[in-house]
Amino acid sequence: MKNEILAVLKNSRDYISGQQLCDKFRVSRTAVWKVMEQLKEEGYEIEAVRNRGYRLKSCPDVISEAEILSVLQTEWAGRRTVCYKETDSTNNRARDAGEKDGVHGMLFAAERQSAGKGRRGRAWDSPGGSSIYMSILLRPDIRPAKAPMLTLVMGLSAAEGIKETTGVDAKIKWPNDIVADGKKICGILTEMVTEIEYINYVVIGVGINVNQESFPEGLEGKATSLRIAGGRTFGRAEIIAAVLKAFEKNYELFLEAGDLSQLRARYDRLLVNLGRDVRVLEPGNEYEARAKGISDEGELIVTLSDGKERHVFSGEVSVRGIYGYV
Ligand code: BTN
Repeated sequence: MKNEILAVLKNSRDYISGQQLCDKFRVSRTAVWKVMEQLKEEGYEIEAVRNRGYRLKSCPDVISEAEILSVLQTEWAGRRTVCYKETDSTNNRARDAGEKDGVHGMLFAAERQSAGKGRRGRAWDSPGGSSIYMSILLRPDIRPAKAPMLTLVMGLSAAEGIKETTGVDAKIKWPNDIVADGKKICGILTEMVTEIEYINYVVIGVGINVNQESFPEGLEGKATSLRIAGGRTFGRAEIIAAVLKAFEKNYELFLEAGDLSQLRARYDRLLVNLGRDVRVLEPGNEYEARAKGISDEGELIVTLSDGKERHVFSGEVSVRGIYGYV
């Protein structure tokens, strides 16, 4: 009920009387009062005026179930959400749930991670208070070979959700980094457990730099935040909700087609590499080519200097701009 009351408070500009809330949720005045006290403890500023009721004056920027669910507009993505003040990695929490009875679309989010994981075995720096660390559990009924495309579905959704909520000109660096001003603002790590013929579960973890003012040495120059790129701070729950909404829609389109054909045009429009010269770093083979966009299967299509086309598979390959990261 707390989440629902918070949603009502958020959606109303005027005071809501205690009686209206009692009637709506069929609970006593004391129960409503208790919820208000809980919300205040969590940092919500709630004004209570005799004969008028309650009004929400401000919300804390926290990663909590109440905050996320009060702005979520999805059917299934994130409808079951579990938040942690700290955990080693939200991908690990989603994997645990995948091994048990975690449902499709379940979301795990944390204020901070003590052992955040990046791609290729790297660590993902995960301090508290300013970033999004979240992982969604999926149980897709598709062949395992198609699962890597889900990472691109999330890449597109993260870029779209970020753009929509912040106005920052977020672009995709193939296959799934999100960049702004040529620096990384978001990384995605997909992990899956499969049998030969079917997928047990897939976990897609998303890390977004939201309100950081600066980055530790070594990351400066490579990483940026939405605050730095957008010039103001942003509410993390709204960004999470927008990314999940975009993901739900894009995931359905992916399932319908069985590939990325229905997402490809939108993906290419956001592709920072499009039309640029890139250096393709395959194990044991490095070459330069011009990026043309993605295929229906999510490979990067590049043209070599002799005009021949090649499809680059994401797996072990990395693509850099010829003068730097993008
Ligand atoms: C990358 O290297 O670009 C991928 C980074 C992925 C980070 C996110 S944060 C939430 C989730 N939990 C993790 O431990 N990693 C992912």
